Amino acid sequence: MNMYQGLIRKYRDYLPVEDDRKIVTLNEGRTLFLKLSKLPKLFGLNRVNLYVKFEGLNPTGSFKDRGMTMAVTKANEAGSKAVICASTGNTSASAAAYAAVSGMKAYVLIPNKKIALGKLAQAIVYGAEVIAIDGNFDDALNMVRKLSETEDVTLVNSVNPYRLQGQKTGAFEICDDLGRSPDYLMLPVGNAGNISAYWMGFKEYYQNKVVSNLPKMTGFQAAGAAPIVENRIFENPETVATAIRIGNPASWHLATAARDESGGSIDKVTDEEILAAQKLLSAEEGIFAEPASCASIAGFVKMAQENKIEKDKDIDIVCILTGNGLKDTSVVVNEETEKQIRFFKPDLDELRKLFR
Ligand code: F0G
Repeated sequence: MNMYQGLIRKYRDYLPVEDDRKIVTLNEGRTLFLKLSKLPKLFGLNRVNLYVKFEGLNPTGSFKDRGMTMAVTKANEAGSKAVICASTGNTSASAAAYAAVSGMKAYVLIPNKKIALGKLAQAIVYGAEVIAIDGNFDDALNMVRKLSETEDVTLVNSVNPYRLQGQKTGAFEICDDLGRSPDYLMLPVGNAGNISAYWMGFKEYYQNKVVSNLPKMTGFQAAGAAPIVENRIFENPETVATAIRIGNPASWHLATAARDESGGSIDKVTDEEILAAQKLLSAEEGIFAEPASCASIAGFVKMAQENKIEKDKDIDIVCILTGNGLKDTSVVVNEETEKQIRFFKPDLDELRKLFR
């Protein structure tokens, strides 16, 4: 049988799994990898090959599934009966789904009213115990860390090292498709696990001589939640990209190490730039990603406008689109956009006027 059976079985040799019978999978990974035809040219970058990896096409609609298959598999190996996480939405959706399929209970702590509705719907429908707190993600993470020390429950935030192990497979897939590492890997940075995981993945392929180059790790935070860029904790992070509304990232030092070892950078983009990038990506390229994901595209645009991308040679840039746009429709459907909808009577003659 040739059926794809998820990233643990695909990249078994690179992952610390002991017992194949305990694997918990929803056949995550193997996500869409697409070359964008219009965007580079819009910015005069004719020699740039710009690709997106659409992680929004994972089973729960975000890249978190890569880490969650590993974290829940390891919890399952250890005989754990419950998992817990703090989340800005996607981790809770993913933890809830993998807990459901493995027969474990999931406890998810979320910042009250600050997660996108689609993500909340997922946590509810997958059957998690949803706990909303009056506080932000950083507060929630502090609490679940302490709870997991004293209670019989496995922490599945990215401070669980198996999460990053799973997430590094995104780098493997890109290299497998391109036949090399890209020159730049651009991605949003929130709790800073993903940039750290990707760097680990690229380095492992490099050390194993699967590829002979490494990318510049190029991260982007939201301007209102930019602790790494400004080198200070944000007590009250704010951004329309609620997924990365984080003021004190857990993998801060791993992320700066990835940046520095790779000769990359971590910069910030404003909410306006993020939403403009979301619109550009959708209307020009037909891909609808959630706001946090579009920080990578906004970052590409910013670097292009600041002439920070080479024009005199062929280069490969990959932007990671971390989550699906359908999770967070409220940023798109609002008073402003509803004005663009035209209302007609159900009358054919009236409607024909549209085309004349
Ligand atoms: N993009 C999306 C869509 C996310 O949900 C997250 C993080 C990130 C980017 C940032 O990734 O934290 O590894 O730097 N979401 C977490 C959550 C915090 O709870 O779902 P990171």
